[in-house]
Amino acid sequence: MIGFITNLFARGEAAMSEASARDSSPIAALHAVSFRRGWSEQEVEGLLIDRHVIAHRAMMGTKLAGFIMSRLVEDEAEILSVAVAGRQRGRGLARQLLHLHLRRLAGLGARTVFLEVDEYNGPALRLYQRAGFREVSRRPNYYSVGDGKAAAALVLRRDLL
Ligand SMILES: CC(C)(COP(=O)(O)OP(=O)(O)OC[C@H]1O[C@@H](n2cnc3c(N)ncnc32)[C@H](O)[C@@H]1OP(=O)(O)O)[C@@H](O)C(=O)NCCC(=O)NCCS
Repeated sequence: MIGFITNLFARGEAAMSEASARDSSPIAALHAVSFRRGWSEQEVEGLLIDRHVIAHRAMMGTKLAGFIMSRLVEDEAEILSVAVAGRQRGRGLARQLLHLHLRRLAGLGARTVFLEVDEYNGPALRLYQRAGFREVSRRPNYYSVGDGKAAAALVLRRDLL
């Protein structure tokens, strides 16, 4: 029964809203399982209380299913991180979060949005390309991918009208 209810929420609509410092713990936990170098809860809290940081979350019931976070200074924003929980991936949550987030950034005066992405991160590259981001530069050997190997960071940009 509990499994059935959990599944029901896992397949339902996600509720998207702004994130606050109260979301620090689940965001840090999702970040930790999504990236090689995790953020501590204190680091996440520090970001979420920073007046230049804008964050949104996707909730499935009471569980965090995804988040996105940017720093906005004057008219330039940088996406710091975006992640969706493993079992919720591939159903459009990141796309919805990104669109909501870009609308909010535009409303706050952002004219340009930058981000860095691993050249081999296929899902993220597809997400950003479909949202109109274009590569503007490349930082070779930027990410360590294990076994002494490295991947380039692609710097992507999108102008907001
Ligand atoms: C990148 C990430 C946020 C995408 O989240 P998601 O909710 O699964 O993404 P969406 O379902 O909105 O899909 C976005 C696009 O990526 C594509 N995509 C999703 N998963 C994919 C996969 N495993 N392989 C290839 N493409 C994939 C989708 O098809 C979609 O493209 P489309 O609109 O052309 O169909 C998620 O994979 C993640 O959290 N990854 C780990 C953290 C990370 O790498 N973040 C990005 C750092 S820059």
